[in-house]
Amino acid sequence: MCGIVGYIGASPAVPYLVGGLEKLEYRGYDSAGIALIDRQGIAVIREKGRIDELKKLLGEEKNESTVGIGHTRWATHGEPCRKNAHPHVSQKGLFALVHNGIIENSEELRQELMAEGYVFSSETDTEVISALAEKYYDGCPVRALMRTAERLVGSYALGVLCRDFPDRILCARKGSPLLLALDERGGLLFSDKVAFEGLREVYRLEDGEFAVLKQDNITFLDAMGRNIDKSPSRLAGDEYDAGKQGYAHFMLKEIDQQPRAFSRTAEAYLQGEDIVFPGFSLSEDQARSLDMIYLVACGSAYNAAAAAQYTLQQIVNLPCRSVIASEFRYTRHYIGKNTLCVFISQSGETADTIAAMELARRQGGRTLSIINVPDSTMAVGSDGVIYTLAGTEIAVATTKAYSAQLAALYLVTAYLGKRRGELSEENYRLFLNHLKGIGAEIKGALALRSRCESLSRIFDGQNDIYFIGRKTDYALAAEGALKMKEISYLHCEAYAAGELKHGTISLIEEGTPVVAVCLRKDILKKTVSNISEVKARGAFVLAVTQERYAPLFSEADEILAIPDLADEELSVPAGAVPLQLLSYYTALRRGCAIDKPRNLAKSVTVE
Ligand code: G6P
Repeated sequence: MCGIVGYIGASPAVPYLVGGLEKLEYRGYDSAGIALIDRQGIAVIREKGRIDELKKLLGEEKNESTVGIGHTRWATHGEPCRKNAHPHVSQKGLFALVHNGIIENSEELRQELMAEGYVFSSETDTEVISALAEKYYDGCPVRALMRTAERLVGSYALGVLCRDFPDRILCARKGSPLLLALDERGGLLFSDKVAFEGLREVYRLEDGEFAVLKQDNITFLDAMGRNIDKSPSRLAGDEYDAGKQGYAHFMLKEIDQQPRAFSRTAEAYLQGEDIVFPGFSLSEDQARSLDMIYLVACGSAYNAAAAAQYTLQQIVNLPCRSVIASEFRYTRHYIGKNTLCVFISQSGETADTIAAMELARRQGGRTLSIINVPDSTMAVGSDGVIYTLAGTEIAVATTKAYSAQLAALYLVTAYLGKRRGELSEENYRLFLNHLKGIGAEIKGALALRSRCESLSRIFDGQNDIYFIGRKTDYALAAEGALKMKEISYLHCEAYAAGELKHGTISLIEEGTPVVAVCLRKDILKKTVSNISEVKARGAFVLAVTQERYAPLFSEADEILAIPDLADEELSVPAGAVPLQLLSYYTALRRGCAIDKPRNLAKSVTVE
């Protein structure tokens, strides 16, 4: 979603700001802009649409300023257009700022300021911040920002320029991430460290903190204006595996990286036959006294949770519920000190998942987050954390982070199963052996790439596609449908195969494509009869199964068979591959913006 960059140094700021915004493109946005400052004042250049549009405007403008802020906006308050794009400048031109987050009391503040004669020039919630800063300005911009912050309800990460102080960028944070760095380039500001390559260490602004960023130093302040000592966190060297490396799209590259993403995550926590999570542990007593497990997440992370729920419940022998975070946070739950609440998120910044985590904490639950981005809000805000090691994921539609989430959830399953005495020594060892083999199984499934490319012809030109399956196959069908709809813009629905007869089957007509996911023997015959039911109504069926079961799908029009799997309870990571590839090639045929689908954001930082 919205992204912030800022630069203050000795070189012209524009290349740093535009370069940073381009790196943030993957998060999703619909307008972009920058503000530059020097002794002559503040200049703002912003435009609706892609960064290329902004670049066209910048091409005509020669600005050598060495200080500036930039923003990619994903519209919430006010349509995507030039006047609503950030940065927003206050009426007298004293302040220009970029904002991530949402100001919930913006309407009241707007009315108050208008009554005082302030004239707004956009429909955004953000503009009240620049207006308030100007109102409270008494010659000290930090004081003005602090007084402004006191009036704001909601979330914000802010990068602020003040016309009277062209040698600094002011920063503030509440609820939305904001990071700073100092290196040979100068002072850098960003909401996502992907913005700048080669970062070695970063400072993370915490809620309620402020910072003054200069070319060669940063001052951190608390809400009372007192100085804070802050140490930077070091970044691992390979965190940013830059570029498409010869692939046409990041998504295809990331699909191919899945064997590594899965195996790195699974193996990082294996010490011989022990599973050791540096950020999470439960004694046997604690594990045995657990009363329930919640798995809470959004999007594909939720689909990973939904798949793992079956496996956890089966192996750990506890009630286990997967819940969509935006539902979880507004529903009554039965959470006590023995309830394990697991929050799964690639970014660690998804607003609904963060809010659900805070709710579980307040209710006294034991919180564990499974996160891909180190030091993200969720990673530092839960009782325990397990990092997935998928590396940086750029395509909005997640693939390798989803696989790595499954690896972490399977590890948690084995960990709890053993400690609760539900997995015998022998079954535990077998489970770990199967886990170690999944990287190779994913690789085997990747060999179906050209077959998926050719089968994608089935979907092009269709209006609706149905995905069906049972148990983990159903969770996989949900992920397959989500991947397909988000990047190809075709309407897709996932259905529990047994539920078809209760509604969806009335939509099946001659030629309607149905993807039947059936990787598990225990429900195979049942799904095969569902295939007969839709075939009888004219459906075109593509069955996704294992090679050994392919002969049983004589009624299917096409079969996509992955190499045989060792453990069908753990079939989701390899089974996901053909579904991802089908959606990729369908979107490619349809000429869609695969890495940056319309209206979507990589990291959904608003409710
Ligand atoms: C967005 C992304 C999805 C992702 C979901 C949850 O919708 O496009 O790919 O699954 O957010 O994000 P998270 O960072 O919490 O995993």
